Amino acid sequence: MSSDVTEALEEPENLSYEELEEDDNVSATDLSELLKEGTKESHDRAENTQFVKDFLKGRIKRELFKLGTVALYFTYSALEEEMERNKDQPGFTPLYFPLELHRKEALMKDLEYFYGEGWREKVQCSEATQRYIDRIRHVGQHEPELLVAHAYTRYMGDLSGGQVLKKVAQRALKLPSTGEGVQFYIFDNISNPQQFKQFYRARLNALDLDKGTKERIVEEANKAFEFNMQVFEELDKIGALLAEETQEGGLPVHDGKGDLRKCPYYATKLGAAEVSSCPCHVALALLKLPTVQLVLAACVAVAAGVVAWYVM
Ligand code: HEM
Repeated sequence: MSSDVTEALEEPENLSYEELEEDDNVSATDLSELLKEGTKESHDRAENTQFVKDFLKGRIKRELFKLGTVALYFTYSALEEEMERNKDQPGFTPLYFPLELHRKEALMKDLEYFYGEGWREKVQCSEATQRYIDRIRHVGQHEPELLVAHAYTRYMGDLSGGQVLKKVAQRALKLPSTGEGVQFYIFDNISNPQQFKQFYRARLNALDLDKGTKERIVEEANKAFEFNMQVFEELDKIGALLAEETQEGGLPVHDGKGDLRKCPYYATKLGAAEVSSCPCHVALALLKLPTVQLVLAACVAVAAGVVAWYVM
C-alpha cells in the first residue's frame, strides 16, 4: 500500500484500520452499506453465471481467458480515462487512487504476454463490452456523480475475489507462477486488500450526498453488474463455439454449430492473420470438424464398396 494511503489511514478524521474494524455502528444510510445490500442480488446472479461458475472450476480455455482480458482492457481504459477526467470533482476525488487501483497498465502487460508485441492490432472491442463502455463514458461526461458506482463495482470486486481467480487461472492455463498473464489480479501497491477495502468504504461513506443521489448510485452499481454479466454471457457463447481443445498457435477447433463467420473469436483471429500457416495444423484442425469427418467417412465407405465389388 502506498504511503499516501497509509498516512490517510492514520489521520484521525479518516479512522485507523483498527478503529474501522471495531466500528460496528455501520449506519443503514452509509453508502457502503447501501451498495453492499442493494447489489446483493446482482452479486449472486453474477457469481452464478455459467462463465463465472466454469471459471471457478478451472474450466476456462486459454483463448477465452485471452478474450476476457481483452474485454477488461477496453473496460478499464474507459473507466480510468473517465476517472482521470473527474479526479477533481468533489463527488469523486476521495475515491481517486490511481497508484493503488488502476488496472490498465497491468492489463496491457497481460495482453502483450498473450498476443505478443503487436497486440494492439490483434484485439478488438466486443459488442457487450462496447455497451458497457458507452455507459461509463456517458456517466463520466454527463452524470459524474454516478462514476463512483462503476469504480465500486469493479475495484471492490477485484480486491475481493482476485487472489482466488488468479490461482485458478494460473493452474488451469499452466501460466508461470511468476505472474505473467495475470498481472490484472496483482495489486502491487496494496499490501492488505481487506484493509484497503475498509478504507475505501470509509471514503464512500464520507461523500457528501443526499438520499436521492445515494439511491441513484446504487441503481447505477446494479447496472454495472448487469453490464458485466452481459460480457460474461457473450464470452460464454464464444466459449461454446470453441471446441474442447484449442491448439496453441494453430486454428482453434470449431464445433461446427452456427455460422463460423459470426464467431467474434474467429473474426479477431482471422482478422489479425494470427492463424498458423502450417499445413499439418490446418489439416488436423479441419479433421476435427464434424462436417469434414462426415465427408471423409462417406468417402471411405464408397472406396470400401468399390474395392469389395472389384475383389468379388
Ligand atoms: C467469481 C465469482 C465471485 C466470487 C467468488 C466473489 C466473491 C466475493 C466475496 C467473498 C466478497 C466479500 C468480500 C468482503 O466482504 O471482504 C465479494 C465482494 C464483492 N464482489 Fe464479488 N465475487 C465474485 C464475482 C463478482 C463479480 C462478477 C463482481 C462484479 C463485476 C463482483 C463484485 C463485488 C463487489 C463490488 C464486492 C464488494 C461488496 C461490498 O463489500 O460492498 N464480484 N465478492
